[in-house]
Amino acid sequence: MDLGLKGKSVLVLASSKGLGKAIAQEFVREGARVMITSRDALALQTVAREMREVSGEVQAQPCDITKLTDIKELVEKTVSAFGTIDILVNNCGGPRAGNFDDLDDQAWQEAFELTLLSYIRSIREVLPYMRKNGGGKIVNIASISIKQPLDRLLLSNTLRAGVNGLSKSLSQELAKDNILINTVGPGKFATDRVIEIDQQQAERKKMTIEDLQNAAQAAIPLGRYGDPQEFAKTVVFLASDANTYITGQALIVDGGLTKAL
Ligand SMILES: NC(=O)c1ccc[n+]([C@@H]2O[C@H](COP(=O)([O-])OP(=O)(O)OC[C@H]3O[C@@H](n4cnc5c(N)ncnc54)[C@H](OP(=O)(O)O)[C@@H]3O)[C@@H](O)[C@H]2O)c1
Repeated sequence: MDLGLKGKSVLVLASSKGLGKAIAQEFVREGARVMITSRDALALQTVAREMREVSGEVQAQPCDITKLTDIKELVEKTVSAFGTIDILVNNCGGPRAGNFDDLDDQAWQEAFELTLLSYIRSIREVLPYMRKNGGGKIVNIASISIKQPLDRLLLSNTLRAGVNGLSKSLSQELAKDNILINTVGPGKFATDRVIEIDQQQAERKKMTIEDLQNAAQAAIPLGRYGDPQEFAKTVVFLASDANTYITGQALIVDGGLTKAL
């Protein structure tokens, strides 16, 4: 199947490591021109160099996605490098863990700015380019928590539902502009974020991280954590020319972990 991604201009938020990096890498393999971002300028340069060994069309721009000025500058830099933006992938760092009693107003505010307001702002900034092009694709990365709440991840359980609601609503508004928008929810992929959460849980439960991860993998019908590349392929398909009729959907990529219909 030809994904039609050669030469497409792609912006992937929060892409110096983990799922965001895997998504950017997959676009690069398909011949797209890709802008990667995160707060860490040095890490970004290293990742960009690594990716340029596959394709020359990778740019890197430091950006804190909780800051409107940074997002505006990121979009401007992408457009000045590639001429336009065809595809936007919204991704972010994970909100902190905790139950209701652990979270004050500041924690809620910060998580809102990180996981939801950043997506709203980046969509607002890229829409004029997509409209001018006569169409575009937006993919919002959320979490399995949009289907089934996760233990001690109250911020994710609440705010990712907002991402899904935003995505569904925009699919209705943007269809007339030929802009397709979907949400993808990861289950458990072996990234720094998941290893950190596993480590915290193992300490709380007084288990070794190996025992905790063995039990976690046994609970996944496919019997293992996913490889970030497996997640990235789904995102890239939804963002590609091969997807002409899927919009407003929330797709879970979790090896069968979620039990909800
Ligand atoms: N991995 C999974 O299985 C899984 C499951 C469910 C949900 N998720 C969600 O999917 C997203 C990605 O997960 P991941 O596992 O790939 O996380 P990760 O390995 O921790 O990577 C997070 C990325 O976000 C960047 N980032 C964090 N805060 C940022 C900010 N304010 N501005 C710009 N960039 C920022 C990080 O770079 P810097 O820190 O250098 O800025 C890094 O590139 C997270 O929201 C996570 O909660 C992941």
